[in-house]
Amino acid sequence: MSWENILLEKEDGIAVLTINRPKALNALNAQTFYEMAEALEKIANDPEIKVLILTGAGEKSFVAGADIVYMKDFGGVEGREFALLGQRVMNMIEKLPQPVIAAVNGYALGGGCELAMCCDIRIAAENARFGQPEVALGVIPGFAGTQRLPRLVGKAVAKELLLTGEQIPAERAWQVGLVNHVVPASELLARAKAMAKRISANGQLAVKFAKEAVNNGLEMDVDRAMAYEADLFGLCFSTADRKEGMAAFVEKRKPQFQGK
Ligand code: CAA
Repeated sequence: MSWENILLEKEDGIAVLTINRPKALNALNAQTFYEMAEALEKIANDPEIKVLILTGAGEKSFVAGADIVYMKDFGGVEGREFALLGQRVMNMIEKLPQPVIAAVNGYALGGGCELAMCCDIRIAAENARFGQPEVALGVIPGFAGTQRLPRLVGKAVAKELLLTGEQIPAERAWQVGLVNHVVPASELLARAKAMAKRISANGQLAVKFAKEAVNNGLEMDVDRAMAYEADLFGLCFSTADRKEGMAAFVEKRKPQFQGK
């Protein structure tokens, strides 16, 4: 498939999806979302892909937000449709069977911060900057920023960012729990790939179930969430990888997982 606004590469079980509109600092318009949806569908159904890394083209920006030029003449209905489109694609990322690592290589503002937040893990370059500046444009976040940000950093910090619209540097994003690691820009992709490699060495189904347990369990009350965890734990015992993982431990060798 050939796309105009994204790139998809795959090597050694790790896919890299790059938002590729560097002239607009990788801002998100509808076409970019449609292309992302196609790519994500392909990735979800590719058993060779064990981990996805999401990044932005160029050195300056991960994604500088929803495309303001594209949105400037919207009416209310178009605004709502665009928010629903962005939310749908970001939910696809959150629910992707494979883990997703955001490699944040610069500005992650508005829709860019929202895109980073729907990923499972965020690694930021030292020059990355985060923020939800929508209020400065007279709007609020529309791709679930008002929901995912407080769930990640708590209500107080989320409200400060959402109401002031101010940008914070990578180090502050790390302090408030918005990113997992801050690394030199020159090492960003290598560090993301190293983490992806580490994840892909594990039982693929166990990794998928762990992601599901966290995502779905957090939406339940704790008793139901623990019962759900126990069900998924039990399900692991029906997999060949579980047999191999435990046999390898007992036989003091490295497991050879097959994702089955
Ligand atoms: N939409 C469309 N184009 C954008 C853009 C965006 N979000 N962000 C940057 N660009 C474009 C600029 O218009 C400019 O294009 P031209 O060269 O054609 O003029 C190009 O990218 C480079 O940008 P700047 O010249 O502004 O670069 P800078 O280094 O001076 O500033 C910046 C960088 C601080 C990121 C600044 O571009 C900026 O503030 N961008 C907007 C950030 C923003 O407000 N994001 C939120 C969008 S709303 C949203 O996301 C809503 C939602 O949740 C659904």
